[in-house]
Amino acid sequence: HDGQSFIVMANRLPVDRCRDSWHTAPGGLVSALAPIVKAESGAWIGWPGTCDETIEPFSADGMHLFPIPLSCAEHRQYYEGFSNSVLWPLYHDLIVAPQYRRDWWRTYEAVNARFAQAAIETAAYGATIWIHDYQLQLVPRMIRSQRRDVRIGFFNHIPFPPVGLVGQLPWREAVLDGLLGADVIGFQRESDVRNFRDASQRFLGIDPDRVSNVIDAYPISVDVDAIREAAESDSVARLSRQIRHDLGSPEVLMLGIDRLDYTKGIPQRLRAFEELLEDGVLAPETTMLTQVAVPSREGIGAYQDLRDEVERLVGRINGRFGTLERGVVQYFHQSYSFEATIASYLAADVLLVTSLRDGMNLVAKEFVTARQERGGALVLSEFAGAADELDRAVIVNPHDISGLKNGIREAAKLTGDDAHDQMAAMAGTVEDHDVHQWAQSFLNDLQNPVNAGLPFL
Ligand code: G6P
Repeated sequence: HDGQSFIVMANRLPVDRCRDSWHTAPGGLVSALAPIVKAESGAWIGWPGTCDETIEPFSADGMHLFPIPLSCAEHRQYYEGFSNSVLWPLYHDLIVAPQYRRDWWRTYEAVNARFAQAAIETAAYGATIWIHDYQLQLVPRMIRSQRRDVRIGFFNHIPFPPVGLVGQLPWREAVLDGLLGADVIGFQRESDVRNFRDASQRFLGIDPDRVSNVIDAYPISVDVDAIREAAESDSVARLSRQIRHDLGSPEVLMLGIDRLDYTKGIPQRLRAFEELLEDGVLAPETTMLTQVAVPSREGIGAYQDLRDEVERLVGRINGRFGTLERGVVQYFHQSYSFEATIASYLAADVLLVTSLRDGMNLVAKEFVTARQERGGALVLSEFAGAADELDRAVIVNPHDISGLKNGIREAAKLTGDDAHDQMAAMAGTVEDHDVHQWAQSFLNDLQNPVNAGLPFL
């Protein structure tokens, strides 16, 4: 009965191998899950971030890490190809066109089988296995076919698209069936749940009300205590004052922090900002925008094109409205430490989250949690999952540049009691639903014997 009794599986390990050292891996999935796995002293099965390298299991921060190797060809076909040039754009409403390549699909199947095999070999009798995200959708069924004793959960961090879009996928039946191998299938929003149920009905002829799987929404969240602790520390307070001071103490400091991804609506945000300067609504002498664009998926053409577009826009705005002393947009193509991220939330007045489509967007939840009683404003896209809960933000449609401009203008003017009340209310919402509560509600459903994995009726 050796083996791991609580296993998390995700494409990436929480740490990334870069040359000889390890770094925290990017993205909302890792930032949400790492505190859970640490608290449970659990195991994590994932890819270590390099190709053609075999790394033995090791421990870090109390987590037992099991690296799954990928060859460079698999990295191209499974990661850059099927996961991020087919599923990612398809699940985010076709912002770019997917390429339905059969060789990529075959590699996706093969890599999913390798992940499943690792779990089958690692799991103790009766273990809980919690699989995460679109890169591993076939794994639940693959594990279930060999291990009847384990509890299998699947959580999708990104949107699940409407039936009309899923229908494009040549392997839609295999993907839906793969997911239905899990006892509990979790999504971010109610709309994702509806889409999944519709697709199962349409393409598998399954009545979602007559299956034993639990299919539900579990909106993910942030580690409120860790964010508050950082926000209250002297070093972060000092850093946030320093940031503001070094920027020449602007009256209004706006902030964007995103992975450099075409789902995030960064060009739309920059265009709206530029037009507001052009119209004289925002004054370039007193307003600044800091845009942090965390490098992401740089081997993929659509991401390279986005980088070119964003850098061209930033250059144009600074060329038009900057002065010799300073630009109006501070742009960083870098990743920031947790402390520096929290400090920049405290330094800013307005956070711009303008995603065209986003599973949740944890940056929005981090921002309101860090600010709590400090006022400020959040501009939040209605296409981000966070908009379901943070409905007291300035909600915008980022496709509507005029509406987006109005939202940014409104947020820039939001000060005093109004701003304070809204921010405190949103911080309260996140506090009541933090990441530990998220994990607990999913795992309660997963470990409750009432939901034991019965075959379909
Ligand atoms: C999003 C996805 C994660 C992914 C992360 C970073 O948050 O939901 O699955 O890990 O982006 O992307 P990357 O491709 O670098 O892992």
